Amino acid sequence: MISRNAGQTRLKMKFIIILCGLVSIQAGVIKEDNCSGVIIEGVYYEKENETLREGNDRLYYANETLREDIDRPYLLVVDNSTNNLYFSYNIKENDDEFKSARLNLNTKEFNNIEGVTNGFAQTVDQATHEIYIGGSDGIYKYDYGQNKAELIGERGSNIWTLYFKDVLYYSLFPHQFLYVMEDGQSKRFVDLEDTKVDHFIIDNEDDIFFSNYTGLFSQKKGTKNAVLYAESPVLRSLATDKFGNAYACLQDGIYAVEKTTTSLKKVVEVNDAFGLAFDNDNNIVYSDASRIIRLKIYKDKTC
Ligand SMILES: *[C@@H]1O[C@H](CO)[C@@H](O)[C@H](O)[C@H]1NC(C)=O
Ligand SMILES: *[C@@H]1O[C@H](CO)[C@@H](O)[C@H](O)[C@H]1NC(C)=O
Ligand SMILES: *[C@@H]1O[C@H](CO)[C@@H](O)[C@H](O)[C@H]1NC(C)=O
Ligand SMILES: *[C@@H]1O[C@H](CO)[C@@H](O)[C@H](O)[C@H]1NC(C)=O
Ligand SMILES: *[C@@H]1O[C@H](CO)[C@@H](O)[C@H](O)[C@H]1NC(C)=O
Repeated sequence: MISRNAGQTRLKMKFIIILCGLVSIQAGVIKEDNCSGVIIEGVYYEKENETLREGNDRLYYANETLREDIDRPYLLVVDNSTNNLYFSYNIKENDDEFKSARLNLNTKEFNNIEGVTNGFAQTVDQATHEIYIGGSDGIYKYDYGQNKAELIGERGSNIWTLYFKDVLYYSLFPHQFLYVMEDGQSKRFVDLEDTKVDHFIIDNEDDIFFSNYTGLFSQKKGTKNAVLYAESPVLRSLATDKFGNAYACLQDGIYAVEKTTTSLKKVVEVNDAFGLAFDNDNNIVYSDASRIIRLKIYKDKTC
């Protein structure tokens, strides 16, 4: 079972911060990229891509701040066709009023998404590259080319979570029950009809990961057998990487799901993390209370 004490987990991990200068040339300008890469004990990618840890159980990351001075960027997701990051952030100090935005991870171009009241939740159908946004008055489909959002369902409802895998899953605030929308028709998602759902994803083995007030659970799709992964973690979001592996973003860092031990293993230490996503190249993109940061993987081991 999961260690309830994050401090214990932290002690088990050895983090070494390396600081060195890396000079990269971008758009004709020489820019110094501070390569404050983190070396992480081999967890991340260890099954999927051996080449990334060749001869070494560690991975090197360069730490790139993509956006600063932004209040609590939340519910991050990347459309892998355009490498655009979608997320929401708080637009009213000391209050909860949100706006959805997109950040092009290649060009760093930033755009607010207009036409969605209180844009909060985002998800992408990676097969068709359709983007869904949930606000305080319904679910919208966002047209990236036209930069326009169109209401497609749940008119007048406050959307809490959105997730796309084959079909669109969503929950409403305040009751937080999970629904599934298929061909314009909505119904309760039977597998989780007995619980409220806070965060929700489905991984590459059709294992659902979801959280409620009690904890973080996993449940094979099509069953009702929930397995506890973490009791009442300070969970901020769940995400799958490019290969469909599940990760959890807690307030104190990014954790990989370890199915053999039904536990979470910390892979990156973060102070006050909010959101997590993976870009086109499977680099980690995360947010803390005021920034969006990318941890770029170094394929060779020199910074
Ligand atoms: C790199 O670090 C130096 C010294 O701390 C700082 O002046 C510079 O702005 C940093 N560059 C970037 C791209 O963060
Ligand atoms: C592993 O990463 C290398 C380098 O990016 C890439 O060329 C290769 O296709 C990857 N292998 C798999 C199985 O994804
Ligand atoms: C990335 O850099 C920022 C700014 O220096 C720092 O606050 C943050 O902790 C770093 N993240 C990681 C995972 O090293
Ligand atoms: C995007 O993700 C989907 C689903 O995981 C995958 O089939 C597709 O090949 C990916 N496309 C790119 C450009 O990475
Ligand atoms: C959360 O889900 C688990 C597994 O389905 C269930 O046992 C528990 O009662 C739920 N907690 C709440 C507060 O609904």
